[in-house]
Amino acid sequence: MTQHRKYSILFVCLGNICRSPAAQAVLQRLVDERGLTERFYIDSAGIGSWHIGDLPDKRMRVHARPRGYELTHRARQVKSGDFEDFDLIVGMDAANVDDLRYLAATIEQQDKVVMMGDYIRQYPNYDHVPDPYYEGSEGFELVLDLLEDACDNLLDRVLGFRY
Ligand code: 4NP
Repeated sequence: MTQHRKYSILFVCLGNICRSPAAQAVLQRLVDERGLTERFYIDSAGIGSWHIGDLPDKRMRVHARPRGYELTHRARQVKSGDFEDFDLIVGMDAANVDDLRYLAATIEQQDKVVMMGDYIRQYPNYDHVPDPYYEGSEGFELVLDLLEDACDNLLDRVLGFRY
């Protein structure tokens, strides 16, 4: 990380209405709590275009609120400029990562793409953040549990504290 500019992180899932806007809110709070607000820019986007302009899924908002997260992001689709603008692009599952690496224009851009599952530590049975869209309440709670774990580890990794 340099002192001069913000380190930018883009979270990506399929629709940008469940997992990635939640990840954005979870990491933003961790960054704010650690007094690092000025050093990071955090955003999220979707592989698909179905939900452009939408607020996060009502169920995701309902489950996030008791944990203190207000999800106000408006969905947008990943664009080619994201691969230039962001330092790190984090896919929620293997399909997201495959799609992102396909969309990247250069090897350097491909190398910015990482998998959220690589930062999960407390839930060894999960190597990705599963799509909750067709799941019940447990699916949304699981997503938040996994994201809180992974975002903490991802931030440590970016700051050079661990790994
Ligand atoms: P997300 O969940 O990728 O976590 O935002 C989904 C939301 C919508 C759809 C798929 C996944 N969809 O097919 O519309």
